[in-house]
Amino acid sequence: MLVSAKDMLNKARDGKYAVGQFNINNLEWTKAILLTAQELNSPVILGVSEGAGKYMCGYKTVVGMVKGMIEELKITVPVALHLDHGSYEGAKACIEAGFSSVMFDGSHYPIEENVKKTTELVKTCNELGLSLEAEVGSIGGEEDGVVGMGECADPDECKAIADLGVTMLAAGIGNIHGKYPENWPGLSFETLAAVKEKVGDMPLVLHGGTGIPEDMIKKAISLGVAKINVNTECQLSFADATRKYIEAGKDLEGKGFDPRKLLAPGFEAIKNTVKEKMELFGSIGKA
Ligand code: 13P
Repeated sequence: MLVSAKDMLNKARDGKYAVGQFNINNLEWTKAILLTAQELNSPVILGVSEGAGKYMCGYKTVVGMVKGMIEELKITVPVALHLDHGSYEGAKACIEAGFSSVMFDGSHYPIEENVKKTTELVKTCNELGLSLEAEVGSIGGEEDGVVGMGECADPDECKAIADLGVTMLAAGIGNIHGKYPENWPGLSFETLAAVKEKVGDMPLVLHGGTGIPEDMIKKAISLGVAKINVNTECQLSFADATRKYIEAGKDLEGKGFDPRKLLAPGFEAIKNTVKEKMELFGSIGKA
């Protein structure tokens, strides 16, 4: 069964740890993340970008795959299936398809428009018992064609959106999707503390989890971050392990070309990355 992210994030906020959102791209990704969460007894959020949703043949396919896997693999830890950086239309489509959580990224709209659209979605999500993430201040880097410059959110705007009754709030604090450039100045803890001061109990979300140094992750959690999104790092470890397999000529030995063999090292690599992150975020044993 899929659950809303609300309870797991409120617990994480109170317990001073964070739940990882790991983005999925296909069956191997989903299976690796679900099995790792179960083995480590950790709650988990599966993130699906609109691009990845299309790639996996639409949101209904994703819901079918994830629900089927939870049942067949006997996954008992809390799992939320969450739309990542959704448009207004995307959020509606995911709600319709059976997602248990959605993000509406209205950060590129003027604040009034962001408020209006978020208000409508709060109503729908509340009626259905789904969690809703909103964003203020766009996250840097590029993700599926959504490009942001790594802004720092205005704490008053964060309060305006938080007060609408969203479940969790992503505030830009200088974070960037993908790899961080050499000259990245780091997270703005000043902004994070100012946002926290304004939004009170609202669990905060840190996007761009790939490549943020461990001490910064820990400090962000201590300042109210309860959900951390990781995408690129699983992609990099999958690609690295797959390249090694091919470069070692393993696909040419026996039945090494069988996708169940060829994709196995990448699958294990995703599991390792997810485990490392769950250790760092402190969510192990918290299911
Ligand atoms: P990374 O790809 O940098 O880990 O960011 C993931 C993310 O924030 C998804 O919303």
